[in-house]
Amino acid sequence: MTDYQPGLEGVPATKSNISFLDGKQGILTYRGYRIVDLAENSTYEETAYLLLDGELPTAAQLAMFDSLVREHRRVKYNIRDIMKSSPVTGHPMEMLQTAVASLGMFYPNNVPVQIRSPGDESEQYVHGQSIRILARMATLVAMWQQMRIGNDPVRPRTDLSYAANFLYMFFNGVEPDPLVARIIDTCFILHAEHTINASTFAAMVTGSTLAMPSYVISAAIGTLAGPLHGGANERVITMLQEIGKPEHARAWLEKKLAAKETIWGMGHREYKVKDPRATLLQKLMRELADSQGTISPLFETALALEEACEESLAPKGIYPNVDFYSGILYREIGIPPDQFTSLFAIARTAGWLAHWREQVSENRIFRPTQVYTGYEPRNYMPVGER
Ligand code: COA
Repeated sequence: MTDYQPGLEGVPATKSNISFLDGKQGILTYRGYRIVDLAENSTYEETAYLLLDGELPTAAQLAMFDSLVREHRRVKYNIRDIMKSSPVTGHPMEMLQTAVASLGMFYPNNVPVQIRSPGDESEQYVHGQSIRILARMATLVAMWQQMRIGNDPVRPRTDLSYAANFLYMFFNGVEPDPLVARIIDTCFILHAEHTINASTFAAMVTGSTLAMPSYVISAAIGTLAGPLHGGANERVITMLQEIGKPEHARAWLEKKLAAKETIWGMGHREYKVKDPRATLLQKLMRELADSQGTISPLFETALALEEACEESLAPKGIYPNVDFYSGILYREIGIPPDQFTSLFAIARTAGWLAHWREQVSENRIFRPTQVYTGYEPRNYMPVGER
Protein backbone atom coordinates (compact mmCIF):
# COMPACT_ATOMS: atom_id res chain seq x y z
CA MET A 1 0.00 0.00 0.00
CA THR A 2 1.23 3.55 -0.78
CA ASP A 3 1.87 6.04 2.02
CA TYR A 4 -1.02 8.04 3.37
CA GLN A 5 -0.97 11.65 2.06
CA PRO A 6 -3.08 14.07 4.11
CA GLY A 7 -5.42 15.96 1.80
CA LEU A 8 -4.43 13.46 -0.92
CA GLU A 9 -1.67 15.90 -1.86
CA GLY A 10 0.06 14.73 -5.02
CA VAL A 11 -2.13 11.62 -5.33
CA PRO A 12 -3.69 11.32 -8.82
CA ALA A 13 -7.45 10.83 -8.40
CA THR A 14 -8.31 10.47 -12.09
CA LYS A 15 -7.10 10.80 -15.66
CA SER A 16 -8.47 13.96 -17.23
CA ASN A 17 -7.99 16.00 -20.41
CA ILE A 18 -10.07 18.99 -19.34
CA SER A 19 -7.57 21.40 -17.81
CA PHE A 20 -3.91 21.59 -16.91
CA LEU A 21 -1.98 23.75 -14.52
CA ASP A 22 1.71 24.29 -14.06
CA GLY A 23 2.02 25.71 -10.57
CA LYS A 24 5.70 26.56 -10.93
CA GLN A 25 5.29 28.59 -14.11
CA GLY A 26 1.79 29.89 -13.35
CA ILE A 27 0.18 28.42 -16.47
CA LEU A 28 -3.45 27.29 -16.63
CA THR A 29 -5.03 25.83 -19.77
CA TYR A 30 -8.55 24.62 -20.59
CA ARG A 31 -8.47 21.84 -23.20
CA GLY A 32 -4.99 23.11 -24.13
CA TYR A 33 -5.95 26.79 -24.53
CA ARG A 34 -4.20 29.29 -22.26
CA ILE A 35 -6.48 31.02 -19.78
CA VAL A 36 -4.95 34.38 -20.82
CA ASP A 37 -6.07 33.84 -24.43
CA LEU A 38 -9.53 32.72 -23.38
CA ALA A 39 -9.94 35.67 -21.00
CA GLU A 40 -8.98 38.10 -23.77
CA ASN A 41 -10.76 36.54 -26.74
CA SER A 42 -13.50 34.15 -25.66
CA THR A 43 -16.88 34.42 -23.93
CA TYR A 44 -18.20 32.35 -21.03
CA GLU A 45 -20.64 30.61 -23.40
CA GLU A 46 -17.84 29.60 -25.77
CA THR A 47 -15.54 28.57 -22.90
CA ALA A 48 -18.33 26.44 -21.39
CA TYR A 49 -18.81 24.72 -24.76
CA LEU A 50 -15.06 24.12 -24.97
CA LEU A 51 -14.98 22.58 -21.49
CA LEU A 52 -18.06 20.42 -22.02
CA ASP A 53 -17.36 19.24 -25.55
CA GLY A 54 -13.57 19.32 -25.73
CA GLU A 55 -13.14 21.61 -28.78
CA LEU A 56 -13.85 25.24 -29.58
CA PRO A 57 -17.20 25.39 -31.40
CA THR A 58 -17.75 26.51 -34.99
CA ALA A 59 -19.93 29.61 -35.36
CA ALA A 60 -22.98 27.40 -36.02
CA GLN A 61 -22.28 25.10 -33.05
CA LEU A 62 -21.83 28.09 -30.76
CA ALA A 63 -25.04 29.73 -32.00
CA MET A 64 -26.99 26.52 -31.34
CA PHE A 65 -25.46 26.00 -27.87
CA ASP A 66 -25.98 29.65 -26.92
CA SER A 67 -29.62 29.65 -28.03
CA LEU A 68 -30.32 26.48 -25.99
CA VAL A 69 -28.71 28.02 -22.89
CA ARG A 70 -30.83 31.17 -23.39
CA GLU A 71 -33.98 29.06 -23.85
CA HIS A 72 -33.45 27.23 -20.54
CA ARG A 73 -32.85 30.24 -18.31
CA ARG A 74 -36.31 30.18 -16.78
CA VAL A 75 -37.12 27.92 -13.81
CA LYS A 76 -40.43 26.60 -12.55
CA TYR A 77 -42.56 28.67 -10.17
CA ASN A 78 -42.14 25.93 -7.55
CA ILE A 79 -38.49 26.93 -7.17
CA ARG A 80 -39.63 30.48 -6.47
CA ASP A 81 -42.02 29.08 -3.84
CA ILE A 82 -39.14 27.25 -2.14
CA MET A 83 -37.19 30.50 -2.04
CA LYS A 84 -40.23 32.38 -0.76
CA SER A 85 -40.55 30.06 2.21
CA SER A 86 -36.83 30.11 3.04
CA PRO A 87 -35.35 32.40 5.72
CA VAL A 88 -33.97 35.62 4.23
CA THR A 89 -31.01 35.20 6.57
CA GLY A 90 -29.99 32.04 4.69
CA HIS A 91 -26.58 32.33 3.07
CA PRO A 92 -26.84 32.53 -0.74
CA MET A 93 -24.75 29.36 -1.04
CA GLU A 94 -27.23 27.52 1.19
CA MET A 95 -30.06 28.74 -1.03
CA LEU A 96 -28.18 27.82 -4.18
CA GLN A 97 -27.49 24.32 -2.93
CA THR A 98 -31.14 23.89 -1.91
CA ALA A 99 -32.44 25.21 -5.23
CA VAL A 100 -30.09 23.10 -7.34
CA ALA A 101 -30.82 19.97 -5.30
CA SER A 102 -34.55 20.58 -5.80
CA LEU A 103 -34.18 20.78 -9.60
CA GLY A 104 -34.05 16.98 -9.67
CA MET A 105 -37.54 16.78 -8.15
CA PHE A 106 -39.07 19.28 -10.53
CA TYR A 107 -37.35 17.96 -13.65
CA PRO A 108 -37.24 14.16 -13.05
CA ASN A 109 -35.95 11.62 -15.54
CA ASN A 110 -35.29 7.89 -15.89
CA VAL A 111 -32.30 7.93 -18.19
CA PRO A 112 -29.18 6.15 -16.87
CA VAL A 113 -26.22 8.51 -16.66
CA GLN A 114 -23.47 6.07 -17.57
CA ILE A 115 -22.24 6.86 -21.08
CA ARG A 116 -21.28 3.66 -22.93
CA SER A 117 -20.66 4.98 -26.45
CA PRO A 118 -20.42 8.44 -28.03
CA GLY A 119 -23.84 9.82 -28.93
CA ASP A 120 -25.80 7.20 -26.98
CA GLU A 121 -28.96 8.07 -25.06
CA SER A 122 -26.97 8.73 -21.88
CA GLU A 123 -24.56 11.09 -23.56
CA GLN A 124 -27.45 13.04 -25.05
CA TYR A 125 -29.03 13.18 -21.60
CA VAL A 126 -25.79 14.38 -19.98
CA HIS A 127 -25.37 17.03 -22.70
CA GLY A 128 -29.00 18.21 -22.36
CA GLN A 129 -28.80 18.35 -18.56
CA SER A 130 -25.51 20.24 -18.70
CA ILE A 131 -27.13 22.97 -20.82
CA ARG A 132 -30.13 23.17 -18.49
CA ILE A 133 -28.12 23.35 -15.27
CA LEU A 134 -25.65 25.85 -16.70
CA ALA A 135 -28.52 28.05 -17.90
CA ARG A 136 -30.33 27.96 -14.56
CA MET A 137 -27.43 28.59 -12.20
CA ALA A 138 -27.26 32.33 -12.93
CA THR A 139 -31.05 32.57 -12.72
CA LEU A 140 -31.14 30.92 -9.28
CA VAL A 141 -28.44 33.18 -7.83
CA ALA A 142 -30.06 36.33 -9.23
CA MET A 143 -33.56 35.29 -8.08
CA TRP A 144 -32.46 34.83 -4.48
CA GLN A 145 -30.65 38.17 -4.50
CA GLN A 146 -33.94 39.94 -5.23
CA MET A 147 -36.23 37.66 -3.23
CA ARG A 148 -34.23 37.96 -0.03
CA ILE A 149 -34.77 41.72 -0.11
CA GLY A 150 -38.48 41.29 -0.72
CA ASN A 151 -38.67 41.78 -4.50
CA ASP A 152 -40.22 39.49 -7.06
CA PRO A 153 -37.48 38.17 -9.35
CA VAL A 154 -37.41 39.63 -12.86
CA ARG A 155 -37.72 37.19 -15.74
CA PRO A 156 -34.56 36.24 -17.58
CA ARG A 157 -34.05 37.84 -20.99
CA THR A 158 -33.06 35.83 -24.05
CA ASP A 159 -31.57 38.77 -25.94
CA LEU A 160 -28.67 39.20 -23.51
CA SER A 161 -25.42 37.27 -23.14
CA TYR A 162 -25.04 34.93 -20.15
CA ALA A 163 -23.15 37.51 -18.06
CA ALA A 164 -25.33 40.46 -19.10
CA ASN A 165 -28.54 38.58 -18.31
CA PHE A 166 -27.15 37.59 -14.92
CA LEU A 167 -26.42 41.25 -14.08
CA TYR A 168 -29.81 42.34 -15.44
CA MET A 169 -31.63 39.87 -13.17
CA PHE A 170 -29.31 40.34 -10.20
CA PHE A 171 -29.84 44.13 -10.20
CA ASN A 172 -33.62 43.86 -10.60
CA GLY A 173 -33.98 44.69 -14.28
CA VAL A 174 -31.39 47.46 -14.57
CA GLU A 175 -29.76 47.47 -18.02
CA PRO A 176 -26.17 46.22 -17.50
CA ASP A 177 -23.20 48.44 -18.32
CA PRO A 178 -21.26 46.84 -21.25
CA LEU A 179 -17.87 47.12 -19.46
CA VAL A 180 -19.24 45.55 -16.29
CA ALA A 181 -20.87 42.77 -18.33
CA ARG A 182 -17.54 42.10 -20.05
CA ILE A 183 -15.73 42.04 -16.69
CA ILE A 184 -18.23 39.55 -15.24
CA ASP A 185 -18.00 37.46 -18.41
CA THR A 186 -14.20 37.37 -17.99
CA CYS A 187 -14.52 36.50 -14.29
CA PHE A 188 -16.79 33.59 -15.26
CA ILE A 189 -14.16 32.38 -17.78
CA LEU A 190 -11.39 32.63 -15.16
CA HIS A 191 -13.38 30.66 -12.58
CA ALA A 192 -14.85 28.08 -14.97
CA GLU A 193 -12.41 25.23 -14.32
CA HIS A 194 -9.36 24.35 -12.25
CA THR A 195 -8.38 20.67 -12.43
CA ILE A 196 -9.19 18.40 -9.49
CA ASN A 197 -9.93 20.84 -6.70
CA ALA A 198 -12.11 19.94 -3.70
CA SER A 199 -15.50 20.83 -5.23
CA THR A 200 -14.70 19.17 -8.55
CA PHE A 201 -13.59 16.08 -6.68
CA ALA A 202 -16.89 16.14 -4.74
CA ALA A 203 -18.76 16.33 -8.08
CA MET A 204 -16.74 13.41 -9.43
CA VAL A 205 -17.27 11.26 -6.33
CA THR A 206 -21.02 11.92 -6.43
CA GLY A 207 -21.10 11.38 -10.21
CA SER A 208 -19.25 8.08 -9.81
CA THR A 209 -22.26 6.65 -7.97
CA LEU A 210 -24.28 7.49 -11.14
CA ALA A 211 -26.35 9.94 -9.13
CA MET A 212 -28.47 12.47 -11.03
CA PRO A 213 -26.85 15.81 -11.98
CA SER A 214 -28.79 17.79 -9.37
CA TYR A 215 -27.00 15.73 -6.69
CA VAL A 216 -23.65 16.10 -8.45
CA ILE A 217 -23.82 19.88 -8.67
CA SER A 218 -25.36 20.40 -5.23
CA ALA A 219 -22.54 18.31 -3.67
CA ALA A 220 -20.02 20.51 -5.47
CA ILE A 221 -21.78 23.70 -4.30
CA GLY A 222 -21.63 22.55 -0.67
CA THR A 223 -17.93 21.83 -1.01
CA LEU A 224 -17.18 25.14 -2.67
CA ALA A 225 -18.85 27.01 0.21
CA GLY A 226 -16.03 26.37 2.70
CA PRO A 227 -13.62 29.23 3.46
CA LEU A 228 -10.57 27.24 2.39
CA HIS A 229 -12.03 26.93 -1.11
CA GLY A 230 -14.59 29.33 -2.63
CA GLY A 231 -15.44 31.24 0.52
CA ALA A 232 -12.07 32.98 0.76
CA ASN A 233 -12.88 36.08 -1.35
CA GLU A 234 -15.67 37.05 1.06
CA ARG A 235 -13.10 36.97 3.87
CA VAL A 236 -10.62 38.99 1.83
CA ILE A 237 -13.01 41.96 1.97
CA THR A 238 -13.45 41.69 5.75
CA MET A 239 -9.67 41.45 6.08
CA LEU A 240 -9.04 44.54 3.91
CA GLN A 241 -11.68 46.49 5.83
CA GLU A 242 -9.99 45.49 9.07
CA ILE A 243 -6.64 46.76 7.72
CA GLY A 244 -8.40 50.01 6.85
CA LYS A 245 -5.65 51.90 5.01
CA PRO A 246 -2.76 50.93 2.69
CA GLU A 247 -0.21 52.31 5.17
CA HIS A 248 -1.47 49.91 7.87
CA ALA A 249 -0.94 46.80 5.71
CA ARG A 250 2.61 45.95 6.73
CA ALA A 251 2.12 46.23 10.50
CA TRP A 252 -1.19 44.35 10.29
CA LEU A 253 0.47 41.54 8.33
CA GLU A 254 3.35 41.18 10.78
CA LYS A 255 0.89 40.91 13.68
CA LYS A 256 -1.22 38.25 11.92
CA LEU A 257 1.76 36.19 10.84
CA ALA A 258 3.23 36.31 14.34
CA ALA A 259 -0.10 34.96 15.62
CA LYS A 260 0.05 32.25 12.89
CA GLU A 261 -3.21 33.45 11.35
CA THR A 262 -4.29 32.89 7.76
CA ILE A 263 -3.98 35.70 5.25
CA TRP A 264 -7.06 35.24 3.07
CA GLY A 265 -6.61 35.14 -0.69
CA MET A 266 -2.96 34.13 -0.30
CA GLY A 267 -1.46 30.74 -1.01
CA HIS A 268 -2.48 27.77 -3.08
CA ARG A 269 -1.82 24.05 -2.93
CA GLU A 270 -0.73 24.02 -6.60
CA TYR A 271 0.65 27.47 -7.43
CA LYS A 272 4.03 28.39 -6.08
CA VAL A 273 4.01 31.66 -8.06
CA LYS A 274 1.24 34.27 -8.45
CA ASP A 275 -1.96 32.64 -9.66
CA PRO A 276 -2.37 33.72 -13.34
CA ARG A 277 -6.04 34.39 -12.63
CA ALA A 278 -5.10 36.85 -9.89
CA THR A 279 -2.93 38.76 -12.40
CA LEU A 280 -5.82 38.93 -14.88
CA LEU A 281 -8.33 40.00 -12.21
CA GLN A 282 -5.96 42.69 -10.99
CA LYS A 283 -5.81 43.99 -14.59
CA LEU A 284 -9.61 44.04 -14.79
CA MET A 285 -9.75 45.92 -11.51
CA ARG A 286 -7.41 48.56 -12.99
CA GLU A 287 -9.60 48.79 -16.09
CA LEU A 288 -12.68 49.36 -13.95
CA ALA A 289 -10.86 51.96 -11.83
CA ASP A 290 -9.73 53.79 -15.00
CA SER A 291 -13.27 53.85 -16.36
CA GLN A 292 -14.55 55.22 -13.05
CA GLY A 293 -11.66 57.66 -12.75
CA THR A 294 -10.97 56.65 -9.12
CA ILE A 295 -9.14 53.86 -7.31
CA SER A 296 -11.11 52.23 -4.52
CA PRO A 297 -9.48 52.30 -1.05
CA LEU A 298 -9.94 48.50 -0.85
CA PHE A 299 -7.95 48.03 -4.05
CA GLU A 300 -5.18 50.32 -2.78
CA THR A 301 -5.06 48.40 0.51
CA ALA A 302 -4.93 45.09 -1.38
CA LEU A 303 -2.00 46.32 -3.49
CA ALA A 304 -0.17 47.40 -0.32
CA LEU A 305 -0.88 44.04 1.34
CA GLU A 306 0.37 42.14 -1.70
CA GLU A 307 3.58 44.19 -1.57
CA ALA A 308 4.02 43.45 2.14
CA CYS A 309 3.37 39.72 1.57
CA GLU A 310 6.03 39.71 -1.13
CA GLU A 311 8.69 39.93 1.61
CA SER A 312 7.28 37.55 4.21
CA LEU A 313 5.19 34.98 2.31
CA ALA A 314 6.59 34.89 -1.24
CA PRO A 315 9.81 33.11 -0.12
CA LYS A 316 7.53 30.23 1.00
CA GLY A 317 5.83 30.21 -2.42
CA ILE A 318 2.73 31.98 -1.13
CA TYR A 319 1.29 34.56 -3.52
CA PRO A 320 -2.17 36.01 -4.28
CA ASN A 321 -4.64 33.41 -5.48
CA VAL A 322 -7.82 33.91 -7.54
CA ASP A 323 -9.76 35.09 -4.49
CA PHE A 324 -7.46 37.96 -3.61
CA TYR A 325 -8.72 40.38 -6.29
CA SER A 326 -12.05 38.82 -7.33
CA GLY A 327 -13.84 40.03 -4.19
CA ILE A 328 -12.66 43.62 -4.61
CA LEU A 329 -13.82 43.60 -8.21
CA TYR A 330 -17.24 42.21 -7.32
CA ARG A 331 -17.58 44.66 -4.49
CA GLU A 332 -16.88 47.59 -6.84
CA ILE A 333 -19.58 46.29 -9.19
CA GLY A 334 -22.05 46.33 -6.29
CA ILE A 335 -22.26 42.60 -5.58
CA PRO A 336 -22.68 41.94 -1.84
CA PRO A 337 -19.80 39.93 -0.31
CA ASP A 338 -22.04 37.02 0.71
CA GLN A 339 -22.81 36.48 -3.00
CA PHE A 340 -19.18 36.23 -4.13
CA THR A 341 -19.00 32.46 -3.78
CA SER A 342 -22.28 32.10 -5.68
CA LEU A 343 -20.67 33.84 -8.65
CA PHE A 344 -17.78 31.40 -8.36
CA ALA A 345 -20.32 28.55 -8.36
CA ILE A 346 -22.09 29.86 -11.48
CA ALA A 347 -18.79 29.97 -13.34
CA ARG A 348 -17.43 26.67 -12.02
CA THR A 349 -20.56 24.81 -13.07
CA ALA A 350 -19.05 24.48 -16.56
CA GLY A 351 -16.01 22.70 -15.09
CA TRP A 352 -18.05 20.54 -12.71
CA LEU A 353 -20.28 19.41 -15.58
CA ALA A 354 -17.29 18.69 -17.82
CA HIS A 355 -15.79 16.47 -15.09
CA TRP A 356 -19.15 14.79 -14.48
CA ARG A 357 -19.34 13.89 -18.17
CA GLU A 358 -15.75 12.66 -18.17
CA GLN A 359 -16.44 10.61 -15.03
CA VAL A 360 -19.57 8.89 -16.33
CA SER A 361 -17.91 8.24 -19.71
CA GLU A 362 -15.38 5.93 -18.07
CA ASN A 363 -16.83 5.30 -14.68
CA ARG A 364 -15.59 3.41 -11.67
CA ILE A 365 -17.12 4.25 -8.32
CA PHE A 366 -14.71 6.03 -5.97
CA ARG A 367 -13.88 3.80 -3.05
CA PRO A 368 -10.50 4.70 -1.54
CA THR A 369 -8.95 2.88 1.35
CA GLN A 370 -7.88 4.14 4.78
CA VAL A 371 -5.16 3.70 7.35
CA TYR A 372 -7.07 2.35 10.35
CA THR A 373 -5.89 3.81 13.67
CA GLY A 374 -8.64 2.51 15.98
CA TYR A 375 -9.07 -0.41 18.44
CA GLU A 376 -8.62 -4.08 17.68
CA PRO A 377 -11.97 -5.95 18.00
CA ARG A 378 -13.09 -5.85 21.67
CA ASN A 379 -16.01 -7.11 23.68
CA TYR A 380 -19.22 -5.15 24.05
CA MET A 381 -19.97 -4.21 27.67
CA PRO A 382 -23.60 -3.63 28.73
CA VAL A 383 -24.31 -0.02 29.70
CA GLY A 384 -24.80 -0.85 33.41
CA GLU A 385 -21.29 -2.34 33.64
CA ARG A 386 -19.40 0.62 32.13
N1 COA B 1 -1.55 32.81 5.22
C1 COA B 1 -0.56 32.56 6.06
N2 COA B 1 0.22 31.47 5.98
C2 COA B 1 -0.04 30.61 4.98
C3 COA B 1 -1.07 30.82 4.05
C4 COA B 1 -1.84 31.97 4.21
N3 COA B 1 -2.85 32.25 3.37
N4 COA B 1 -1.11 29.81 3.18
C5 COA B 1 -0.14 28.96 3.54
N5 COA B 1 0.51 29.45 4.62
C6 COA B 1 1.63 28.83 5.32
C7 COA B 1 1.17 27.70 6.23
O1 COA B 1 0.84 28.20 7.51
C8 COA B 1 2.36 26.80 6.23
O2 COA B 1 3.34 27.38 7.08
P1 COA B 1 4.35 26.46 7.94
O3 COA B 1 5.16 25.73 6.91
O4 COA B 1 5.10 27.44 8.74
O5 COA B 1 3.47 25.56 8.76
C9 COA B 1 2.89 26.92 4.82
O6 COA B 1 2.45 28.21 4.36
C10 COA B 1 2.39 25.85 3.89
O7 COA B 1 0.97 25.92 3.84
P2 COA B 1 -0.04 24.70 3.74
O8 COA B 1 -1.15 24.89 4.71
O9 COA B 1 0.74 23.42 3.76
O10 COA B 1 -0.60 24.88 2.30
P3 COA B 1 -1.76 24.04 1.70
O11 COA B 1 -1.34 23.70 0.32
O12 COA B 1 -2.18 22.91 2.55
O13 COA B 1 -2.95 25.09 1.73
C11 COA B 1 -4.44 26.78 1.15
C12 COA B 1 -3.36 25.81 0.65
C13 COA B 1 -5.09 27.46 -0.06
C14 COA B 1 -5.50 26.01 1.94
C15 COA B 1 -3.75 27.82 2.08
O14 COA B 1 -2.76 28.53 1.35
C16 COA B 1 -4.75 28.81 2.68
O15 COA B 1 -5.33 28.53 3.70
N6 COA B 1 -4.93 30.00 2.01
C17 COA B 1 -5.92 30.95 2.48
C18 COA B 1 -7.31 30.57 2.03
C19 COA B 1 -7.55 30.89 0.59
O16 COA B 1 -7.26 31.99 0.14
N7 COA B 1 -8.15 29.93 -0.13
C20 COA B 1 -8.48 30.07 -1.52
C21 COA B 1 -7.68 29.14 -2.36
S1 COA B 1 -7.98 29.41 -4.08
